[in-house]
Amino acid sequence: MNIYIYENEEGFVQSAANQVTSLLNAKPYAKLGLATGSTPIGLYTRLIEMHRKGLVSFSKATTFNLDEYVGLPENHPESYRTFMNEKLFKHIDINIEQTHIPNGNAADLEEECRAYDQMLEQHGPIDLQLLGIGHNGHIGFNEPGKSLTSGTHLAPLQEKTRQANARFFPSIDDVPTHSVTMGVGSIMKANQIMLLIRGEDKAEIAHRALTGPITTDCPASLLQCHPNVIVLMDQGAGRLFK
Ligand code: F6R
Repeated sequence: MNIYIYENEEGFVQSAANQVTSLLNAKPYAKLGLATGSTPIGLYTRLIEMHRKGLVSFSKATTFNLDEYVGLPENHPESYRTFMNEKLFKHIDINIEQTHIPNGNAADLEEECRAYDQMLEQHGPIDLQLLGIGHNGHIGFNEPGKSLTSGTHLAPLQEKTRQANARFFPSIDDVPTHSVTMGVGSIMKANQIMLLIRGEDKAEIAHRALTGPITTDCPASLLQCHPNVIVLMDQGAGRLFK
């Protein structure tokens, strides 16, 4: 595991963007695993800028998002489909048909999970999987617990996660209670994983996940078992590593 701590936002964002653009420039048909949330927004903005400067093309790339809320209409402002369209896809030359996000409105969610896994298997492995981390150590929406699920599954959101995400909704009652998420097994199949961590409030979980015991109580700790992980942190998140 290679851990990099950046003094400023610029270094953090540009390094993350360089990982993605170097991959795409070397391998235009690359498969990218993407995440939502606040953490990757700066990266997505930088990728748009680099695309506009002609430094990278996404035209042959395929993307797979980690997760989607259950029960929000696809065009809801807080659905992860809307997030990805607004923050990245509509500003770059990606073929929207090549962008995949679990359907949280499928009539049969179990079937949707099976189909998502099948699609990952058919296309896989993902070349570069982007991840953020929740304050409780979740990756995707794989929440801490006695056990973890390998494949894509229907996952209840923990109260802490709903509270953290309530900032995007009129009230906590509007935050969905469930998501469809890729499982840790699917995440771990990626050839390379890039974990992005920003902010003082993530310092403790970053330290626990990356240096503490490997346990289902902290799903991100499983990343210690993956042979090719890079972690990019800002100074706040990396505070306990000095
Ligand atoms: C989002 C996702 C989540 C977030 C995590 C951190 O697709 O899978 O695991 O990465 O909740 O969210 P932020 O970046 O908002 O702190």
